[in-house]
Amino acid sequence: MDDQEPRDGHPTRKTVLRAALAAGLAAPAVLVGVPALARTGAVPGGAAPELTPTCDDGDDPTPPQMEGPYFKPNSPRRTSLVDAGTPGVRLTVTGWVFGRGCRPVPGVLLDFWQADVNGAYDNAGYRFRGHQFTDAQGAFRLTTIVPGLYPGRTRHIHVKAQAPGRPVLTTQLYFPGEPRNATDPLFDPRLLMTVRDAGSGAKEAAFDFVLDVPQTPGPTTPPPDGTWSPGTAYRPGDRVTYGGRGYVCLQAHTAQAGWEPPGAPALWRAG
Ligand SMILES: [Fe+2]
Repeated sequence: MDDQEPRDGHPTRKTVLRAALAAGLAAPAVLVGVPALARTGAVPGGAAPELTPTCDDGDDPTPPQMEGPYFKPNSPRRTSLVDAGTPGVRLTVTGWVFGRGCRPVPGVLLDFWQADVNGAYDNAGYRFRGHQFTDAQGAFRLTTIVPGLYPGRTRHIHVKAQAPGRPVLTTQLYFPGEPRNATDPLFDPRLLMTVRDAGSGAKEAAFDFVLDVPQTPGPTTPPPDGTWSPGTAYRPGDRVTYGGRGYVCLQAHTAQAGWEPPGAPALWRAG
C-alpha cells in the first residue's frame, strides 16, 4: 500500500524508507540507516519521529482483488505500454515492492493490464499489457496512459505481483478523486495510488506494494533437479524438466533461484 502521508504526525517506517530510496540510497544502506535518518530529521527541541523497533508499522500486505475477465498470460516484457502515437493522458506509475520486513524485494514479477483510452481491453493482442521485474532496489516504473472508463467500473489498472517463489497477488490500483470510486463495489481505498500532475498534461502516480514475503532467513532452495537451470534465458515455448516433470515456458525471463516450476505459475505451466 502506498504510504506517503504522515500518520498521526509521524512518518511511518516505510515512508522514511521510500524517501531514502527516492534519494538514491542503496537498499542495504537504507535498512541500516533508517533509525539514524529519523533521528537526524528531528527538529531541534521537537519530538523525534517515533519508529517502532520492529518493522511492523501497521501496514498489512496489499489486499487482493478479483482478476476480472480480461487477463491474458504471456504479456510482453516491457515497462512502457505506449508509443508516440498512442492516444490518452500519459501516466507514469512508480513504486517499490516491499516484503513483510519492510525491505524492498528485487526480482518481483509485475504483470500489468488495463483498458485503453476508450475503456476497451485488447483481447486479441497485447495493447496495454506488459510485465516487468523489480530492479535490484525493488523498484518498478510503468509508462502508460490513464485508462478509460467502461460500464460498471471506476478507473483502475490490473496487476499481478509475484515475488520469487511466492504466490501470485492479483489486485487492482485506483485513482483518487474519481466520482465512480463511490459507486464501484470493488473499489478499495487501500489500493489508491497517489497521483499528481506532471506538466504537459501528463500524470505521475506512485504505489508501493507490500507482499507476504518473509524476510527472515528461511530454508535454502534445494538444488535443481532436471534441466531447469538458474541463469538461463528462457523464451516462451522452451521446455525444461524439474522435479521429474516437464514444463513449458510462458514468458521470457532469466531463471533464478525461487523461480523454479511449478512455483512460478506465471512463468511455467506443466506440459
Ligand atoms: Fe478492468
